[in-house]
Amino acid sequence: MTNVTKNDKTIKIKAPIVEALKKAYENPTYQFHIPGHTKGNGTLPEFKKLIGAKALTVDTTDEFDNLGTLHPATGPIKEAQELAAKAFGAKKTFFLLNGSTAGNLAIAMSLTQKGQKIITNRNCHRSVLTGMIISGAEPLWLIPNRFVEWGIWGNVTPESVEQMLKMHDDASMVWITNPTYEGVVSDIKSISIICKKYKVPLIVDEAHACLWNFNSHLPTPALQLGADAVVHSLHKTGGSMSQSSMLHIAENSMIDVDAVEKALKLLHTTSPSLMLLGSLDAARANLESPRGKKQLERAIANAKFLRREIDKMEHIHHLKPDFGYKTDITKVFIRADGLSGKRLESILEIDFNIEVESASDAGLLILSNLGNTRADMQYLVKCLQTIDKSHYSDICHLENKKHMPMLTPIIKMSLRDAFYSPKETIPKSQAIGRISGEVIAECPPGIAVLLPGELITKEHMPYLVDYDFIEVIK
Ligand SMILES: Cc1ncc(COP(=O)(O)O)c(C=O)c1O
Repeated sequence: MTNVTKNDKTIKIKAPIVEALKKAYENPTYQFHIPGHTKGNGTLPEFKKLIGAKALTVDTTDEFDNLGTLHPATGPIKEAQELAAKAFGAKKTFFLLNGSTAGNLAIAMSLTQKGQKIITNRNCHRSVLTGMIISGAEPLWLIPNRFVEWGIWGNVTPESVEQMLKMHDDASMVWITNPTYEGVVSDIKSISIICKKYKVPLIVDEAHACLWNFNSHLPTPALQLGADAVVHSLHKTGGSMSQSSMLHIAENSMIDVDAVEKALKLLHTTSPSLMLLGSLDAARANLESPRGKKQLERAIANAKFLRREIDKMEHIHHLKPDFGYKTDITKVFIRADGLSGKRLESILEIDFNIEVESASDAGLLILSNLGNTRADMQYLVKCLQTIDKSHYSDICHLENKKHMPMLTPIIKMSLRDAFYSPKETIPKSQAIGRISGEVIAECPPGIAVLLPGELITKEHMPYLVDYDFIEVIK
């Protein structure tokens, strides 16, 4: 139990993996098992000093010290998954190692088959595509709205989903990314009503939105709007450690939970990190606690403060909700007149020691996180004010390169057939007119520039500045 004091009352927040790890730490055994660094004794002393002896002592895997197992879920791990399911309003929650990537791969492997048509947005994350390469399913591309001035993808409209379902009666699933990386929110409620009308499951890649369930000022989570399953990267915004995520199956979901679990078992390591699993348990417990709720309120207040201050600036702007779409207030996408997003990012980094989440052609993304203080935000505002009043200019080589892939693909072969076809590697200068044999989707944001089976055109070239050679179909 984690004790949290609120108004003189002590509230017990359960965190079973955290408690089991604590017990194991306090009752050490003589270890003759993996991991072979044995509490850090077998590693580089500098590394041990850097991350701490305690961290290396709790770096263990399942099976030992009554910590339970991940596949099948037993003991504290099972209990922690059940608590997470309750907290997120799911019928079943799976803890994921290898991020939401593992969740998307498991969904594709278990719910889609060779030749099946899956309706998905072109700006989906590359893990959705990798999943389809594995299963052999074929994407039917929804092209979301484009916000040209901002250089980003916008919302997916319910009308476009319905039109696709009408045109393709063999489509077997709808898989939508919501929100976008920059926080643009689609109307999932209407999309889910349409999916039910056409009797196809709706999967929502909510990798960037695990906080929505914990504050009513944030958009409504897809599990409450009729989605069948969602992934959440708790490590992105929820406070868990890098790589740790969750996959939730909705209460009334029409999908096969056992099949998803079997796919996850195949995909996951057989030596799951208890530190990562413990961090998921801790993140969920924190978000449910009064302390976590306050942190989230602070993150929202900080984002509002930042947006208010940007409103007063002359040359810097932030993306706001508009007619037809909402935004997640904690994701502040900004742009500055006369500067590319990449240039603005490098100014913040070099001149002000600020690292932002990501930058693309037109703007950059600032996350107002659970852990950011008001002082952090005040410093950022001060730096933006300085930039607003200065005469920074763009740098040519940054202007020549494009970062946010926003092209409509020309498909020549199926994804999987192309991926497994004989290929050759040719100089980029000879690639126009050839069919791509590889996935080109730089992270962030992990959105495809080119996929196997797509025609390479001159419009792709600004996105391929860093490539000398391209793999194409022979
Ligand atoms: C929309 C979306 N889905 C899935 C992922 C994969 O998440 P993870 O890094 O947790 O594997 C990302 C990563 O950026 C993403 O942006």
